[in-house]
Amino acid sequence: MKHNITIAIDGYSSSGKSTMARELAKKIGYVYIDSGAMYRAVTLAALRNGLISADGKIDTHGLIALLPEISITFSTPDPVSGSSHTLLNGENVESEIRGMEVSEHVSAVSAIPEVRRRLTAMQQALGDSKGIVMDGRDIGTTVFPEAEMKVFVDASPEVRAKRRYAELKAKGDDISYAEVEANIRKRDETDINRKESPLRKAPDAHILNNDTLSRTEQMEWLTGLFHQITSGMQ
Ligand code: DC
Repeated sequence: MKHNITIAIDGYSSSGKSTMARELAKKIGYVYIDSGAMYRAVTLAALRNGLISADGKIDTHGLIALLPEISITFSTPDPVSGSSHTLLNGENVESEIRGMEVSEHVSAVSAIPEVRRRLTAMQQALGDSKGIVMDGRDIGTTVFPEAEMKVFVDASPEVRAKRRYAELKAKGDDISYAEVEANIRKRDETDINRKESPLRKAPDAHILNNDTLSRTEQMEWLTGLFHQITSGMQ
């Protein structure tokens, strides 16, 4: 019998959690939602509307007023890779939301309580019928505190920065390793210290340390946990 449960995967930026969450969803036939992409899309909308100044100051009132105009959806996943594109008001912004400009401002945007409230409600609606894998920072603590399977992905800042640097270089971004590592450390700090829904491991989350695991080992660990949890269900 197929059990539809909710799977929450949280962790630090560039810990590899999105890749593993997407692969897990594809393997078990679940929907995958990248909640970070939603915060990135809101940040891009703010930048495009001139609501973030060159020194990084956010026009919070302007952004709150813009929120009802922002629609975030995802394209149908590719059947082979399981990847989908993030759509901001219907436009494919997948590549733009992964660039450094959005990365630099997304933590500050995601610290705004109204932004979190709106995206949390959208995420809860997406997970309404279960059968979902969602990754982010507060999925197991705030978005789906009742999730049957919670995973917290840990990896050192150096390993994460190397991974992110390789990704950006492969995309052709002109960036130094030092800039990438500084951005990761800054985002960790903002994510951990923000008042609303800070990055925290849920008490009932299983920790996966991703410093040395291969993709195959990650998948074995995740599917093993999934089967262990669902096999105990009626
Ligand atoms: O996973 P990511 O690096 O794409 O996330 C981008 C930013 O969005 C990250 O700096 C923190 C924020 N975020 C959040 O606050 N809550 C989430 N559930 C997901 C992401």
